[in-house]
Amino acid sequence: MVYGILKGLFNLSETTLRVSKIKDGTVIDHITAGHALDVLKILGITGHVSGVVTVGMNVPSKTLGLKDMVKIEGRELKSKEVDKIALLAPHASINIIRNYKVVDKQRVRLPHIIREAIKCANPACISNSKEPVKSTFYVDSKEPLRLRCHYCGYIMEKQDIPKQF
Ligand code: CTP
Ligand code: ZN
Repeated sequence: MVYGILKGLFNLSETTLRVSKIKDGTVIDHITAGHALDVLKILGITGHVSGVVTVGMNVPSKTLGLKDMVKIEGRELKSKEVDKIALLAPHASINIIRNYKVVDKQRVRLPHIIREAIKCANPACISNSKEPVKSTFYVDSKEPLRLRCHYCGYIMEKQDIPKQF
C-alpha cells in the first residue's frame, strides 16, 4: 500500500520532470496538439540552434485535453511570430520567463488583418509575383479559420496554412 503510494508519487515526479522548467526565455503553452513542429518552423528552429529547446507533445492539459508546448531558453518572440502562432494555435499562451519566474503571460490573439505573415496559396496571385506587394489577408472567420486574400479573394483554411509560412 505505502509502496504503491510512493511509486505513484515517484511516477508523478517523473512525469513533471519530462518537460523541465527553464531559467530565462519563452514558454509557448497550450498549443493545439499536433502543432508543435509548425510552431518550431514559424520560429525558424530547424535543428541547429544554440540554446536549449524543449518540445512537449500530447501533454495532458486541464483545459484542452491534450496540448503541445515549446520552451525556448534565451529567446523572446517578435509580435509577427506571435501572430503566426495564433493562426495555428488560437489558444496558445506566451509566457516570458526570467530567473525561473513567469513575468508575463499573454494569450495569442488573431488580428483582423494579417500582413506579411503567410503567402497566398493561389500561385497566380499578384502577391506571389515579383510585384512589390505585401501579402494581406482578412480574417473572415476565426472558428473554423477562414482567411481571404486582399488581392485575389482566394480563401485559405486552416489546413492550407502550414504550407504557406
Ligand atoms: N514554466 C517553465 N519554466 C519556468 C516557469 C514556468 O517552463 N521557470 C512553464 C510551466 O511549466 C508552464 C508554463 O511555463 O507550462 C506557465 O507557467 P505557470 O504560469 O506557472 O503555469 P500555469 O499556472 O499552469 O499556467 P496556465 O494557467 O497558463 O495553464
Ligand atoms: Zn491571393
